[in-house]
Amino acid sequence: MESLPCSFYKQNNVAYLKLCLIIFMGCLPGTTHLCSNRVLATSTTIPDRLEPFHIASPFQTLRLDGYLSFDNNHHTANDFGNIYHFQPSAVLYPQSVSDISSVIKLIYEMGSGSELTVAARGHGHSLQGQAQAHRGVVMNMESLKGYPEMQVHVGEQPYVDVSGGELWINILHETLKHGLAPKSWTDYLHLTVGGTLSNAGISGQAFRHGPQINNVHELEVVTGKGDIISCSRKQNADLFNAVLGGLGQFAIITKARISLQPAPKMVKWIRVLYSDFSLFSKDQELLISAANSFDYIEGFVIINRTGLLNNWRSSFNPKDPKPASQFNSNGKTLYCLEMAKYFNPEESHIADQITDILLSGLEYIPSTLFSSEVSFVNFLDRVHLSEMKLREKGLWEVPHPWINLMIPKSKIHEFSEEVFGNILKNNINGPILMYPVNKTKWNNMTSLVTPDEDVFYLVAFLSSVVPSSTGSDHLDNILTLNKRILKYSTTANLGIKQYLPHYRTQEEWRAHFGSQWKVFIQRKASYDPLAILAPGQRIFKKAVPMV
Ligand SMILES: Cc1cc2nc3c(=O)[nH]c(=O)nc-3n(C[C@H](O)[C@H](O)[C@H](O)COP(=O)(O)OP(=O)(O)OC[C@H]3O[C@@H](n4cnc5c(N)ncnc54)[C@H](O)[C@@H]3O)c2cc1C
Ligand SMILES: *[C@@H]1O[C@H](CO)[C@@H](O)[C@H](O)[C@H]1NC(C)=O
Ligand SMILES: *[C@@H]1O[C@H](CO)[C@@H](O)[C@H](O)[C@H]1NC(C)=O
Ligand SMILES: *[C@@H]1O[C@H](CO)[C@@H](O)[C@H](O)[C@H]1NC(C)=O
Repeated sequence: MESLPCSFYKQNNVAYLKLCLIIFMGCLPGTTHLCSNRVLATSTTIPDRLEPFHIASPFQTLRLDGYLSFDNNHHTANDFGNIYHFQPSAVLYPQSVSDISSVIKLIYEMGSGSELTVAARGHGHSLQGQAQAHRGVVMNMESLKGYPEMQVHVGEQPYVDVSGGELWINILHETLKHGLAPKSWTDYLHLTVGGTLSNAGISGQAFRHGPQINNVHELEVVTGKGDIISCSRKQNADLFNAVLGGLGQFAIITKARISLQPAPKMVKWIRVLYSDFSLFSKDQELLISAANSFDYIEGFVIINRTGLLNNWRSSFNPKDPKPASQFNSNGKTLYCLEMAKYFNPEESHIADQITDILLSGLEYIPSTLFSSEVSFVNFLDRVHLSEMKLREKGLWEVPHPWINLMIPKSKIHEFSEEVFGNILKNNINGPILMYPVNKTKWNNMTSLVTPDEDVFYLVAFLSSVVPSSTGSDHLDNILTLNKRILKYSTTANLGIKQYLPHYRTQEEWRAHFGSQWKVFIQRKASYDPLAILAPGQRIFKKAVPMV
């Protein structure tokens, strides 16, 4: 007889999940043998597909405002990465924070004899199964939308209270009704608050405001013991810091209070090109430290793709149309600096003046100044517009073997030379974002891991697989290149850290966290001692039942 019954319950088998719950609720410590007999006896009498609440399952004792689903849960065994697929045993559609707490408490009380884990699933836009729970319970956080009702508080320091399952795009629309908006964003807004706050939430505003985890006043969370706790910098500060950038390891975020600022109506959106990497990075670094700078600063790399030259500027107007149309990269790698200045229509000319002054200090290729004016909403929601186009072509729900790295400023030249000049020379697939941030004003007590230097570059390799392709956009080919980039990043000893990190062994995680590892495991022991939460990150493994 193999250890405890749940270690061999079949994947996605409803009756078995329920059985395991029954068994472990009823099991006395040290009576493994009896328990095993009971499962054998009972399993023959319980048919496979019963309504969850009609059987003598411990879940029956739960009073849920929402519900648990044991069937048709395949969508939760996928994510944006579209590479990892772990089937859960059940999905909770919570309608209240107490639903989340009750289910976690129940599992916590089963002790380490149960293999059941819990993964909060935001919008499922993870890349490597981070929001999945193999044979565990997935919590569909978007069901919690409207808990609480989104509440904008105007005043000197405005903020909005939102559900952890809320999408940033909805927060944008709601806060704009009051002329306000969050300060710090991600490039794509169809992500949940809980999902991005578990990582960091970094985009072109982070150089000024810090990442999204820097712009949260307060959280309500449910820990791995099922406790519902409010936390902030002043109250339960250790839990607050643990959860921010905590990869879902300590608690589930059910509510967040997010800092707001007055929102502009319009955005001047500018792109300029460089063929010299040193000039490009010098100008990016200059802009992120300038006093009255742009409101958004990013950049991307264009490797040996003349075709892209027309693509990336399609909705932009060249300042000097004739020389711009004659510009030819001759196959050289180009670097595009991307900037945005927020403004309201009545201040358009002032924004133009500031923009001109800032641009006059830069050393881009003169004929390659492109600009555009768009609404604030269309600017922030820009990736969604691309999403719709890609969806039409069937190129959205494809595998996305992305990697995101944080590279210390002092090593960025070395890195670029090797990665753009060698590894990716003729193999590029998908955009490569690249921009610096200065973290001196970021909260350094959170769980987020960054390089040791104050200024580091975020470099994102955003590849997507083209179905049926055998060329450079074939999955295996991209994975091989990714491996080379990652291997180089570790062996070259450049102090690089992964963002949205993904590792397979605890040794690698230990190296990733470095000096923060000790605090990380202490926090794990305090808030999720049984390692129930976010198993898809593969940092901790829930204790395997003893024989
Ligand atoms: C097109 C696209 C563009 C992106 N652009 C950016 C960008 O510009 N900047 C950036 O920083 N990131 C970016 N990301 C990455 C994104 O922030 C993360 O993948 C994020 O986790 C996705 O949010 P989600 O709601 O889909 O989370 P999920 O994938 O559902 O969850 C992510 C992790 O958080 C946990 N989790 C989810 N909800 C909660 C909760 N309420 N409480 C606790 N833990 C929870 C999950 O268990 C999982 O471990 C982008 C992703 C995509 C697909
Ligand atoms: C660009 O890529 C093509 C293959 O797609 C290759 O033949 C060519 O040499 C590359 N050009 C440069 C300048 O690297
Ligand atoms: C980073 O920001 C701090 C504080 O604003 C500043 O003192 C420092 O010079 C900046 N570092 C760089 C390299 O720009
Ligand atoms: C964190 O930041 C504070 C001030 O912002 C600073 O005093 C402290 O040394 C920093 N701690 C670490 C570990 O960097």
